[in-house]
Amino acid sequence: MSRIVYVNGEYLPEEDAKISIFDRGFLMADGVYEVTSVLDSKLIAFAGHSERLQRSLNELEMAAPASKDELLQIHRELVKRNDLVDGLIYLQVTRGSPGDRDFVFPDPAETPSTLVMFTQSKPGLADNPAAKTGMSVISIEDIRWGRCDIKTIQLLYPSMVKMMAKKAGAEDAWLVKDGVVTEGSSNNAYIVKGGKIITRELSNDILHGITRAAILRYAREAQMEVEERSFTIEEAQDADEAFVTSASAFVMPVIEIDGVKLGDGTPGKVALRLREIYIEESRKTAI
Ligand code: PDD
Repeated sequence: MSRIVYVNGEYLPEEDAKISIFDRGFLMADGVYEVTSVLDSKLIAFAGHSERLQRSLNELEMAAPASKDELLQIHRELVKRNDLVDGLIYLQVTRGSPGDRDFVFPDPAETPSTLVMFTQSKPGLADNPAAKTGMSVISIEDIRWGRCDIKTIQLLYPSMVKMMAKKAGAEDAWLVKDGVVTEGSSNNAYIVKGGKIITRELSNDILHGITRAAILRYAREAQMEVEERSFTIEEAQDADEAFVTSASAFVMPVIEIDGVKLGDGTPGKVALRLREIYIEESRKTAI
């Protein structure tokens, strides 16, 4: 069945949705995005995602295509029109189509930004069987640009990295810059040692995960110790457990790093407990 998607003010069957070939998202990757998960037809952490979207837009001097309230309405309308129960909503804003190719930004008064949104159905998203087995990751050099805090649509390197992981027989990759882990290819990375949760501090080198913020808050509320600092792959291999977080994966245990199994090679207790808390709290606060 064809989805109903949103393009610049219109709800359309996906096959009728069109964007100009001169759109700067298409030509220059000049755009930003957000992924919001949906459980029981309700939005998880919408406020956080819309705030980060605004921050990404500000950093790139891009005009907001709609107010937060309007964005919320569109998210809800897409859930309704697609009968979405569990899944994701993808939102993308680009600097629009000036009608030709030019490196210089167009005048926003003449070139409105492009707003595209669509749903991805993932039945049973919260019961992902991968969480029971955990995943293996390999380390790959982080050669991304210096503003990884902005959620841009330049996703070629993360795609290449996922392919390298796949070829190596792993599920994902952790990126390493200056000898320490920055984050996962599309998630934030954590290790647990002696009950302490360790994750890299916020900077321009990583995306400021909305799930990360929630997880660290829940961990502290549950009296778990949290340390925000960088760590090496060797330290991670020697940790009791490891995990990643993202809007689509929630909390996903990591059981192997560069071929070295962590602990007994099964998902760790802290990761599984945080996953449980996150899903429970997310359902309670979903809108
Ligand atoms: N990825 N780091 C990177 C590089 C990411 O791409 C993501 C999210 C995260 C986690 O952020 P959050 O908790 O706000 O989802 C960290 C999304 C899900 C994606 O690209 O599909």
